[in-house]
Amino acid sequence: MPGTSPDTLIVAVVGATGAVGRTMTRVLLEKQFPMTQLRLLASARSAGQVITVPGFGDITVELATPEIFEGIDIALFSAGGDTSKALAPEAAARGCTVIDNSSAWRMDPAIPLVVSQVNPEDLDWHEGIIANPNCSTMQLMPPLMALRDAVGIERMIVDTYQAVSGTGHKAIVELEEQIKAHAEGREKVAKVYPYNIGFNALPQIDVFLDNGYTKEEWKVVTESRKILHLPDLRVSCTAVRVPVFMSHSEAVHVETRDAVTPDQARALFAAVPGVVVQDDPANKIYPLAEHAAGSDLVFVGRVRQDPSIPDNKGLAFWVVSDNLRKGAASNAVEIAEALVARGWVRKASERHAAPVLGGRPA
Ligand code: A2P
Repeated sequence: MPGTSPDTLIVAVVGATGAVGRTMTRVLLEKQFPMTQLRLLASARSAGQVITVPGFGDITVELATPEIFEGIDIALFSAGGDTSKALAPEAAARGCTVIDNSSAWRMDPAIPLVVSQVNPEDLDWHEGIIANPNCSTMQLMPPLMALRDAVGIERMIVDTYQAVSGTGHKAIVELEEQIKAHAEGREKVAKVYPYNIGFNALPQIDVFLDNGYTKEEWKVVTESRKILHLPDLRVSCTAVRVPVFMSHSEAVHVETRDAVTPDQARALFAAVPGVVVQDDPANKIYPLAEHAAGSDLVFVGRVRQDPSIPDNKGLAFWVVSDNLRKGAASNAVEIAEALVARGWVRKASERHAAPVLGGRPA
């Protein structure tokens, strides 16, 4: 059984060579997460590769297998849904707490789906696996929580403008290649996406479902309801991939239960930890993907009354955040921090059966 004292924590990143995995390692270091050892796991393709990690020296990438999780306290997974489905239960069975960035477990009613500043109380009932929300849902939740708590939310319409880094490292390379091909007058080659992403906008992210929505769009619908504890919230979404490397932008329209003015909304948003209001149109101040990149914050601006909804019960606004950081890696690390701070690294059933106050159990 792994230890749960912050003084002895062993942490693994699964998918450590990928776009999100690399960011997870960076964020763990930046936040000085209290770990004594860091293990980097990936597939056979990169096992054996050596990665230099400041403060931890040269770390050899290891093959992710069920047995490797023996002795690991916390594993941050970002290696795709199939890997999470196969390995997260194996890790949890070995006493490792998994924070999983894939969609494999998000809608499982027995697994908490957590945005660190929105529903950390849901971590209390974890049984070894915690799901990290989809990046497009993640950045919406802090401002939406503020409206839910103050004026109630009846309906939300979200249109996304999503960066290629959300698809992974290969997509970043594909956009770079297509930009170069365009500049050099060569033909662009699309392998990762069904069409060229360079100089285009693709209204398809992930596969289509029977209801005509894409899986990505439907994640926003179902994950928002679960995180906000609003099972009947009316939501619609159009998710679009755009030729941006970093940060997702979202146009949001919300119908509220009670009246709310843009000034009141700006004050509500600004009071949420991790949310910054950038809203001064006269001076061309509004959130931008380029400025949000590299930050853990969620930026909100262009707040205005939606005139199509009567009685001041509608708002329109623009939300931007770094999809690899708050949208994935940083929230995962913030969940790990919350678990350590609350003494909840271990499963709820084990904690409640035999509380351990620190130190590695015999
Ligand atoms: P690898 O480098 O061995 O392929 P991205 O989303 O940026 O493409 O990254 C995906 C990450 O998931 C990579 O680190 C990749 O490792 C890892 N990965 C993919 N398949 C597996 C697997 N079956 N087991 C462990 N890691 C995997």
